[in-house]
Amino acid sequence: MKVLVMHGPNLNLLGKREPDIYGRETLDDINLKIKDLAGELGIEVNFMQSNSEAEMIDRLQADDYDLLIINPAAFTHTSVALRDAISAVGKPSIEVHLSNIHGREEFRRKSITAEVCVGQVSGFGPESYLLALRAAKKLLS
Ligand code: DQA
Repeated sequence: MKVLVMHGPNLNLLGKREPDIYGRETLDDINLKIKDLAGELGIEVNFMQSNSEAEMIDRLQADDYDLLIINPAAFTHTSVALRDAISAVGKPSIEVHLSNIHGREEFRRKSITAEVCVGQVSGFGPESYLLALRAAKKLLS
């Protein structure tokens, strides 16, 4: 059971980026929590963060995982290319957001990518990833 966790643009700045919205935990802190839970659930997990749409698409296309957990960050609202990649690869995918995108600016309320995912977890801070991982376990069992 292999899960790829992909973090999109600017998430490398977590901890110092708008902490009132995204909290004080760094991406490394969050990845460690995901890794710990993955160990408990018997899931092999790999991580990737990129600020580049092209790099994310290339990584998505590598056929070395069973399920994708993705926080596309700002590409959520703009990237038809990322959406097409998720759809073309055809693996079950779960979209994650730290903040509740439906309670923020109008332009964030629309997710282009969620439409090709099994579901979306949004608004629970780092816990969003852990909820997604639990959902992944169910989907893959
Ligand atoms: C985000 C929400 C997006 O709207 C934003 O562009 C991000 C982070 C989140 O995790 O809450 O970069 O995906």
